[in-house]
Amino acid sequence: MEYTQNTVPCGKVCTEHVGSKITLRGWVNRRRDHGTIIFIDLRDRSGLMQLVISPDLSKDVHTKAQEIRSEYVIVVEGTVVKRSDATINKNLPTGEFELQVSDLQILSRAKTLPFQLEEAKNVDEELRLRYRYIDLRRPEMLEIFALRHRIIFAIREFLNKEDFYEVETPILTKNTAEGAREFLVPSRNIPGSFYALPQSPQVYKQLLMAGGFEKYFQIARCFRDESNRADRQPEFTQMDLEMSFTDEKTIQTLIESLLSHVYKTIFGKTLQLPMRRMRYDDAMRLYGCDKPDLRFDLPIQDITKTFESSPITFIQAALKKGGKVGALHIQNKNFSRSELESWTNKAKIAGAQGLIWMRIGENDVIESSIVKHLPTDIVTQLRAIIPTLAVGDTLFVIAGDYKQSWTALGRLRLQLGKALDLIANRDEFLWVTDFPLLEWNEEGKRWVSAHHPFTRPQEGWENKKPEDIKARSYDIVLNGVELGSGSIRIHEKELQYQIFNFLGLDADDMKGHFGFLLEAQELGFPPHGGIALGLDRFLMLMLGLEDIRDIIAFPKTGSGSDLLMGAPTPVSDKKLKDYALVLKQAPCVKGQSESHSEK
Ligand code: AMO
Repeated sequence: MEYTQNTVPCGKVCTEHVGSKITLRGWVNRRRDHGTIIFIDLRDRSGLMQLVISPDLSKDVHTKAQEIRSEYVIVVEGTVVKRSDATINKNLPTGEFELQVSDLQILSRAKTLPFQLEEAKNVDEELRLRYRYIDLRRPEMLEIFALRHRIIFAIREFLNKEDFYEVETPILTKNTAEGAREFLVPSRNIPGSFYALPQSPQVYKQLLMAGGFEKYFQIARCFRDESNRADRQPEFTQMDLEMSFTDEKTIQTLIESLLSHVYKTIFGKTLQLPMRRMRYDDAMRLYGCDKPDLRFDLPIQDITKTFESSPITFIQAALKKGGKVGALHIQNKNFSRSELESWTNKAKIAGAQGLIWMRIGENDVIESSIVKHLPTDIVTQLRAIIPTLAVGDTLFVIAGDYKQSWTALGRLRLQLGKALDLIANRDEFLWVTDFPLLEWNEEGKRWVSAHHPFTRPQEGWENKKPEDIKARSYDIVLNGVELGSGSIRIHEKELQYQIFNFLGLDADDMKGHFGFLLEAQELGFPPHGGIALGLDRFLMLMLGLEDIRDIIAFPKTGSGSDLLMGAPTPVSDKKLKDYALVLKQAPCVKGQSESHSEK
């Protein structure tokens, strides 16, 4: 019996195989010994199939089967038979059939596993990551990766039809000025010099445009040495693209068609197009963040006007400094005192100084944490701004610096959405546009790029204050998560020079870090723009998963460790010497030590 011949996937056995002799191979999911007859559920990535092993068919096979335990890898030959009506398993696609085994070979034995597949969900994640290949055997996990494959395939299929070239760009690249989060790789050939791993293929894809490629894409690996979160990994994949002679609308329409193709092909779902669009300033004003979750409404209401002559000192002080008063209007909700206390704490954690609550009681009598300081016609004043304000409604109010209080209101809004079950069960895509070009970095006391330094400013930028300059950039948001980000780029040296200048790079920095780009911009560089979608993040949201690690075959832990291999590790003194490196402190050992072959 050959495990390469005449084989059928376990989960694909069907009526057409009844009466035929076939070969199945896979893992023993479960073995039940009924004395004379042994039943085995055999599993491969396609599903399960029941094997029946009886001494009447082969004594030899029956003896071998007694030795078999869970997770042994075996190959069997036998005849497919239909089960009697009483023994049909309706929960299994192959539940109408069984294989009467005439030959069996054990290909690999297995000790007791560190955890059982069906218990994996309740097992400590570190153990699952340490034995990731066992975790991956679970049918749910295999299904995720089958979908990941199909989605990437659908992306490639779509972009190929749209005439894009898939091009790989280097993984060993140059350390840059903006590279605070870069992983560095020492060079042995040029001691003392380092490569950086790319945070994204940004500059390379721009250079491909200079190279005349016109339409590029890549399923690109990116590396960022930043703290991990549920939607972040230090190593992740982008669906990255760039086009010459393009504009915002062309790129956004292309991405909409691409996503629509993926949704249709994989889930048979039709996406509502065109997607909604919102300017950055409006997103901040209405939802207190640049990636609003639009599966529910609850916008922030600006009720500053109502407090203009308020006697409350801290509000007056805030308004004098240009601050504002914002409110979340929660309809028909009567919070208990302890709930209000808990929301006040949440507001503080979200960055507010405190939370004022107001409740509209019977006959418009207001109850509030600051009731003594409110004017008698407060409800009328509020209703002029919020016409739907009704008896039984509650307002959560935060006053202070605009950015700080609106950000806190935005965070509170998301928590209220979850707590009050306001989030609709549908996908809400949104383009956020017209981002600021620059952000003030308090720590470095300087302006930094909001996106990256190659982003093109909007027309007329020269006459604006830095905080008012808008970029030709756009983000795509899905259910409150930033899915992707892109922009129209700078292609002229003069403009690039001016922007670098703005960011505090002097001529030497520019030459040292980006001389090659400034040079290319003088040698025939077409206008261009592009975008990158976080592929893992997209898949995570599309499949309704909560953690990005579930969609990555070999993910890193929160602290960036690979528990399976035990990376990162210290290296031997010899290796340090080869790389001309000297450690200033003893290595902090987290993973396992280096493998023997390298010592
Ligand atoms: P940006 O840095 O916004 O843009 O990244 C694009 C998208 O990549 C995803 N992403 C991540 N996913 C998982 N783990 C991470 N650590 C991580 N960081 C980012 C996000 C994000 O929206 N070169 C530009 C794009 C361009 O301008 O074309 C770039 O990389 O979903």
